[in-house]
Amino acid sequence: MNENVFVVNHPLVAHNLTILRDKNTDSEKFNHALKRIFYALFFEGTKFLPTAQKPVSTPICDTIGTVINPDIEIIVSPILRAGLVFSDIAQELLPFSHIHHLGMYRNEATLEPIWYYNKMKGKLKDPEKTFVFILDPMLATGNSGYDAVHNFIKQKIPAQNIIFISLISAPAGVERLTTVYPDIKIITSQIDEKLNDKGYIVPGLGDAGDRIFNTVY
Ligand code: URA
Repeated sequence: MNENVFVVNHPLVAHNLTILRDKNTDSEKFNHALKRIFYALFFEGTKFLPTAQKPVSTPICDTIGTVINPDIEIIVSPILRAGLVFSDIAQELLPFSHIHHLGMYRNEATLEPIWYYNKMKGKLKDPEKTFVFILDPMLATGNSGYDAVHNFIKQKIPAQNIIFISLISAPAGVERLTTVYPDIKIITSQIDEKLNDKGYIVPGLGDAGDRIFNTVY
């Protein structure tokens, strides 16, 4: 396994993942469990952000605190539509980040992504000092994940500053991303067994977008 792939192994994460896998979990409970896990994944992913020292006065004395380095720019990039479920929390935890929506859906025949939206912030101040969090609950074939990463690489953001956060990953998706971009980081709560012939993760949790937005019929 690539040293930049991090599986967050934690009883609370595992517990909530089991809620998500259960086909009888309704949409409301599904969203709650997803968000609980996301906190753990996002804390793990944000540990790569550079920090700086800052003087601070407590009611008792002056001291030196630590802050996220104010010289960097942070992009939070949810892949629509399922990734949207994570972006509010990411924005709450990083209020100074910019949200860059990436709209893609999957061509069910070819499993290739079809782009329909790419809403970036204006010009980056300094790509070398930009950090990106790509949010997608399911890293399956890796096709849309690859396109998302490539979108930021094209803007000259270093691969090591790109952090891909997925709830469940398939070995094929992890391999697809890490083969081309071994320096990106992948944070996930589980690497499942495989993909089925429709490109769904096995055992997985089904279609994340449908379960989040209650469009299961
Ligand atoms: N997208 C999903 O929502 N689920 C999968 O299993 C694979 C891709």
